[in-house]
Amino acid sequence: MPRLREEAGSACLGIRRTRRWLPVSMTTVGLIGSGNIGATLARLAVAGGHSVVLSNSRGPGTLRDLVGELGPSVSAATRDQAAMAGAIVVVTVPLSAYPSLTSVPLAGKAVIVTGNYYPDRDGHVPELDGGQPTSSEYLSNYLPGARIVKGCNNIFFKHLLNLARPSGAADRSYLPIAGDDSADKAAVAEFLDSIGYGYVDSGPLAVSWRQQPDTPVYAIPYGSFSDEMGTPASAEVIRAALAAATR
Ligand SMILES: NC(=O)c1ccc[n+]([C@@H]2O[C@H](COP(=O)([O-])OP(=O)(O)OC[C@H]3O[C@@H](n4cnc5c(N)ncnc54)[C@H](OP(=O)(O)O)[C@@H]3O)[C@@H](O)[C@H]2O)c1
Repeated sequence: MPRLREEAGSACLGIRRTRRWLPVSMTTVGLIGSGNIGATLARLAVAGGHSVVLSNSRGPGTLRDLVGELGPSVSAATRDQAAMAGAIVVVTVPLSAYPSLTSVPLAGKAVIVTGNYYPDRDGHVPELDGGQPTSSEYLSNYLPGARIVKGCNNIFFKHLLNLARPSGAADRSYLPIAGDDSADKAAVAEFLDSIGYGYVDSGPLAVSWRQQPDTPVYAIPYGSFSDEMGTPASAEVIRAALAAATR
């Protein structure tokens, strides 16, 4: 597991304004979706020393401003190019966009899926209204062969930006991750570590309902939306919230 070391510096892109974090290992992160969560993860990944390839539905030209803001380790590309470039890929699009992703080349990749199901926003999906499968199992149908880890789905994007802390910080926050393969979860945990977060393994995708909307671990541990800085949430807090979830 790589560890971060902190340096005084100015190359920090909105987080930890007086520090630059240098991970032991750097990689390329491919983003399918570059909105609230995608752009925030891109920012954190850059601060963590990674290269980032952004994509969205409208094409790379529409991401020019974000690329300019985030700097030379960030580029914009098509969805397929972002998928192919990323050692880790994050799919962070609305649930309704998943059916358009079936041809994106994600087979064999560790893919973080941030998606949540909100019927009022996404339209009703009868399978999900029944409570089974979990939304991540449902979404996996649209990402054939991808090695899915559900993560970064339970935290408000502004809190995700502002609660990042280096490894060893007393006020580091933790994020639950769910997935069916321990190696995939280890890869995602390593990435989260590099962008300022610890992790709690919440189990396989089948029990990822414990981190879906309206559960105790969903948004609540990181504080009120009205406080953009958020409240640090320890591993113990996240474990207890996951354990308290009911169905
Ligand atoms: N917002 C939060 O705080 C938060 C927190 C945790 C989890 N989530 C979940 O994460 C997901 C993304 O949320 P968000 O708030 O980041 O959404 P958002 O700000 O609306 O951004 C969505 C991104 O997805 C892209 N996109 C849409 N359809 C696409 C397609 N067919 N192919 C490729 N890219 C596509 C959009 O690109 P275009 O603009 O070009 O269409 C945009 O870049 C949702 O499922 C949400 O529930 C959100």
